[in-house]
Amino acid sequence: AEIVEHTLIVGNLTIERLCKVHVITAVNGSLPGPTIDVREGDTLVIHVFNESPYNITLHWHGVHQRLSAWADGPAYVTQCPIVPANSYTYRFTITGQEGTLWWHAHISTLRATVYGALIIRPRSGLYPFPEPYANVKPFMEIPIVLGEWWNQNIVDMESDFLTSGGGPSISDAYTINGQPGHLYSCSKDGMHKFNVEKDKTYLLRIINAAMNNQLFFKIARHNFVVVAIDASYTNPYFTDVLVIAPGQSMDLLFMTDQPVDSYYMAARPYSPVPAFRFQDGTTTALISYVGANSLLTGLMPILPYAKDTSTAFKLSNGLTSHTKAPHWLPCPQTVDEKMFITLSIGFVSCGPVANCKSFLGRRYRSAASMNNQSFVLPTKLSMLEAFHYRVEGIYTKDFPDNPPMEFDYTSSINKLNLRLIMPNKGTRVKKLKYGSTVEIVMQDTALVLKENHPMHFHGFDFYVLAQGFGNYDPVNDPKKFNLVNPQKRNTIAVPIGGWAVIRFLADNPGVWFAHCHLETHSPWGLDMAFEIENGPTPSTTLPPPPADLPSC
Ligand code: C2O
Repeated sequence: AEIVEHTLIVGNLTIERLCKVHVITAVNGSLPGPTIDVREGDTLVIHVFNESPYNITLHWHGVHQRLSAWADGPAYVTQCPIVPANSYTYRFTITGQEGTLWWHAHISTLRATVYGALIIRPRSGLYPFPEPYANVKPFMEIPIVLGEWWNQNIVDMESDFLTSGGGPSISDAYTINGQPGHLYSCSKDGMHKFNVEKDKTYLLRIINAAMNNQLFFKIARHNFVVVAIDASYTNPYFTDVLVIAPGQSMDLLFMTDQPVDSYYMAARPYSPVPAFRFQDGTTTALISYVGANSLLTGLMPILPYAKDTSTAFKLSNGLTSHTKAPHWLPCPQTVDEKMFITLSIGFVSCGPVANCKSFLGRRYRSAASMNNQSFVLPTKLSMLEAFHYRVEGIYTKDFPDNPPMEFDYTSSINKLNLRLIMPNKGTRVKKLKYGSTVEIVMQDTALVLKENHPMHFHGFDFYVLAQGFGNYDPVNDPKKFNLVNPQKRNTIAVPIGGWAVIRFLADNPGVWFAHCHLETHSPWGLDMAFEIENGPTPSTTLPPPPADLPSC
């Protein structure tokens, strides 16, 4: 194993998009930021210098961070922010994970432009894909990072939705590797073009870094084989369309088996909430076979309709794990801790000073909650420091295992029940014993509106045992659990008006954030954290923080 060292400088970048010049916050002067390319077992040493005007932290999305919680990155959870003109070095080793992950800012809304790919290759250089792809060596790899672009200043956009009764202003474009593509104004020349050779197998590494939307993705006339999700190998899954939720990544094999020509790849939103405003554009890039007549424009794929939940669910429910792959660990067969967590939108009081803009006489703003707890980040000390130094008063350990009452979750009949739509604000964690196994039913509610929440857990992958629509049925739904080869992920899109059941082994001490990866919902409070206590030995105990850990 090697030590891979990088320097990431977060600073202003002047960039032209959609016919205008903008100053954005970006890393090493590029959008997306640099791709970090390592092998399983490598230790990363990443020096981050903050030359931007904003406080910054970086998160290595999906990296397990075993005994290295200090490098995880969510602001005020595992560290205080790196203030302007300061630096912090993230040190962590990547073990037991192969495939595609990514990194992004984990403070305010800065991840809109502060993000990049993180590629983890097998040490041997050979991909342990399942049959019949076991001996396939991709001819080339193409990393694709899907994103979302705002003409508006990103930090202003956040203060808008934090004070309003509505969502954020809608974005101005979706992007592929930072570029909107030929369907958006002034974007034809910047569009990415990938040249491919006929009759080869390519590995596409796709990441959804968009802020507020799941995305459908297609390449005209081509099919894919999904071989990994969230840096975990899957059994081959054949499809011509993908849906990827914010936070998720997918590795795909794709064969250039069509006539020599040019074909567009394209992504547009899967946005299932009725009457919800969203940016309905399509981002594109071109795949050109060598020898294609460059005067011809490419063929466009036909993407699903934005509310096509059945296509989205078919794919996200159809994936299973490749259990013969190296690093596979079986799903826990017994459970120590059972939780049932509702995911809801609601309203909270802004208090006397905050400038709530648009709801009930300026006194309330939109909020979101898990089991009616709307999460508030601390400001004086990070939660992980409070854990390590045993400081009281930063968070409480009373995150409830169940919602405050049982109700018909997927009907809006209870929407006038103030106990359900006005969540409690607080910084509550669920405390877990080292080595315990946890099962969580996550249930979407229709109190204010149903949503499809991409739930992301820091610190470990989880197994997805089952998913469905309507109210979770504790008698019959467990019969559908896949305990043999369930998909293993770090982000699961809990179906709109439905539920998902996950399990994980809590064997990584520290404080781990768990939240909705829709950028509006997390600051609205759709978050929680787990405190996993230290294990019995030094090698199961969180080491002390690095000397340069920023202070608040
Ligand atoms: Cu990708 Cu907590 O984030």
